[in-house]
Formats: sequence, structure tokens, C-alpha cells
Amino acid sequence: MLATGFVAFLFAPAASVGAVATPQIRAGDVCKKIGRRKSVGGKTFECVKTANGAKWKRAKVAPPPPTTSEVKVLDSTALALGASQNVVVTSGGRNIGAVVTRTAAGVVAFSRTCTHAGVSVSPGASGQLVCPAHGSVFNASTGAVIEGPAEIALTQYKATERNGSIYITL
Ligand code: FES
Repeated sequence: MLATGFVAFLFAPAASVGAVATPQIRAGDVCKKIGRRKSVGGKTFECVKTANGAKWKRAKVAPPPPTTSEVKVLDSTALALGASQNVVVTSGGRNIGAVVTRTAAGVVAFSRTCTHAGVSVSPGASGQLVCPAHGSVFNASTGAVIEGPAEIALTQYKATERNGSIYITL
């Protein structure tokens, strides 16, 4: 019996001896935690709720914004201390959503694209930016995540203010 097992081991295909399985995800596979994202083989998947339970789905990843020069987005008088406002920056034929906040230290700007699954965030209560899709909350002054499922801060843009105008550089 032992000798038979040893012989079978010797002649087993190389792939089955000591092989380590690489975790794979395919769209439609069952997943456990709604909102969870994983990247496998350069593809990003998100666990979403379907009629047949939680399933992995290819996640949409927003393309990086094009490089552009400084663009005026608001008059200074339009933004009070502590206030945030959605703006649109037109660059390279594309409209890019940003949100501008006036802090005690000056103006700051962030991409409106939620780092969880790309839905647009908007100003919420008391210095927060809120995503309506799954409830992520970000700090409007720093872009940091206050509440998930997002785990990554919002992309920050350079914001400047001079001569009564607010500018964003993407
Ligand atoms: S897209 Fe899911 S929380 Fe924003």
C-alpha cells in the first residue's frame, strides 16, 4: 500500500505536486460582503447584491483626468468659510466634477469621484462630502475617509485663490 502511494507520487503530473492555487474571481461568482472590491489579474471586481444573492461584478474604474492648466471655477464671494460647492471643470473636451471647500487655511478641491465605485460625492452636513451610492463619507477639508465602504481618500486637486477668483489645476 505504501509503495503504491509512493509510486503514484513519483509519476503524478508536475502541476499537481506542490502547486499553489492562485485565487481567481470571475464575474458572476458568489461573494460574501456587499461593497467589497478586489483586483485580480489587473481587473477590479466589486461584490454587488443581485436577485440571486451576492455576486462579483467587474467594477468600473474612472480614467485619470487629463493634464490641464489652471481653470477658474468660482468667484471668491460664492464660497463662505466652511462651505463646499460642486463645480465642473471643462478640460480637453471633458467635464470633470470637483468639489471646492473654503477652510480657515484657504480653499481646497477634490475630485467628486468616490474612491469606492466612482459615483459622484456631494457636500453633506458639517464639513463632509457624502456618496449617495453606498454611504461613504469624506472630510471636505482633507478628502480623508470618515466612513466606508470607501477606503481611499478622494483625489486632491490644486486649488488657488487670487483677485477674487478660485482656480483649480487638475
Ligand atoms: S460608490 Fe460606493 S460609496 Fe461611493
